[in-house]
Amino acid sequence: MAAATLSVFPEHAAVEDGRLSIGGCDAVALAREHGTPAYVVAEDDLRARAREARAALAAAHDGPGEVLYASKAFPCSAALRLFAEEGLGCDVASGGELHLALRAGFDPARLYLHGNAKSVRELAEALDAGVGTIVVDGPGDAERLEALLAARGATQRVLLRVAPELRADTHPSIATAHDSKFGVPFADAPAVVARLAASERIELAGLHMHVGSQLLDVAPLRAGAAALATLGRFGVYDLGGGLGVPYTGAERPPTVADWARACAEAVREHVGPGRTLVLEPGRVLVAAAGVTLYAVETVKRALRTWVAVDGGMSDNLRPMLYGARHAVFAADRVGAPGEPCTVVGKHCESGDVLAHDAELPAPEPGDVLVMAVTGAYGHAMANNYNGVPRPPVVFCAGGCSRVVVRRETYDDLTARDA
Ligand code: LLP
Repeated sequence: MAAATLSVFPEHAAVEDGRLSIGGCDAVALAREHGTPAYVVAEDDLRARAREARAALAAAHDGPGEVLYASKAFPCSAALRLFAEEGLGCDVASGGELHLALRAGFDPARLYLHGNAKSVRELAEALDAGVGTIVVDGPGDAERLEALLAARGATQRVLLRVAPELRADTHPSIATAHDSKFGVPFADAPAVVARLAASERIELAGLHMHVGSQLLDVAPLRAGAAALATLGRFGVYDLGGGLGVPYTGAERPPTVADWARACAEAVREHVGPGRTLVLEPGRVLVAAAGVTLYAVETVKRALRTWVAVDGGMSDNLRPMLYGARHAVFAADRVGAPGEPCTVVGKHCESGDVLAHDAELPAPEPGDVLVMAVTGAYGHAMANNYNGVPRPPVVFCAGGCSRVVVRRETYDDLTARDA
């Protein structure tokens, strides 16, 4: 089998006689047991990626360091608990993500609250919970925070998010360092830094940037760190997340070690030794650990071969939002020669295309398909379009599977009716 094929599956996956297993569990048997669509996650991959990231930062950096899990990538309590156990901190970007992280057992001191539009309520929730660090997005955010702190007679450690005004080579919807709604524009940053440094309530510990997601090159991170260094010398530099992953096997992203080294070197070179370096990976910790299992409902042979599955844009918006390409296989015929197919979902619009250029071997209704690298931003962005209940999340390890998020029911669809 082509190495590129295997490289998109979890590390804890195997293909034998064309049959895929995840964490020792046969994919077709998982589909039978848990139904489809289903998000299936190799639990040991999550642990391995967390350890890899911590080890990479420790090896690359000459000062204190902290790896935060960017929980937006896969806001699933079981995953959050696992990452808390593995000693990661956590990046939360809303009151809801804060709630999930606290419930999963993260030490509040290891939480970083982000957001370009934090409400007063969310800021208050963070203060009530004792969140260690608030990443201030601009002067308005700072003012609201200061008012809350003054009323409590408290102070708060913050980082200031700065947009270093550079263009990262990624989809425009996930580029965040130029002409961005996030952070302080670079030209305004010196004034805002001075303003925060003079605050009685805010302890400005350092600077934050996140230049974009699914980055296949570390150059923007180096350039961004160099830009931040011109704003003064701080104790803490949080260079965000964004490291890309191979979705089809053709991409060649930097390794986690390369990424950590680039960030550490840039801070050392431009700012100086011994700084605290914070990294916020999301995708790279969870994406490749997860696959989605679908059942084929219909096959239409027309101008092209339409293979329609029992999910679609309700469980994976990435192809529609970012033109993302995910590899698709027949779960019991991986590596078999195929015919060109367009894999579509069950939703009532033509844009509901999961894969334009799949190659599937004689697809027929009832086949179990596996879409690779869906562990990040699949479950996270799932929705109920067309009244489709959201899929379960199934963790697999050592030949055992367990449901960590159950499938939604039709009753869940009316549960919020007032
Ligand atoms: N830190 C901050 C401040 C962020 O905004 C993000 C992602 C991360 C860290 C983690 O980035 P990662 O390592 O996962 O690339 N829904 C899109 C991705 C949106 C990313 C939003 N922010 C997708 O499916 O590609």
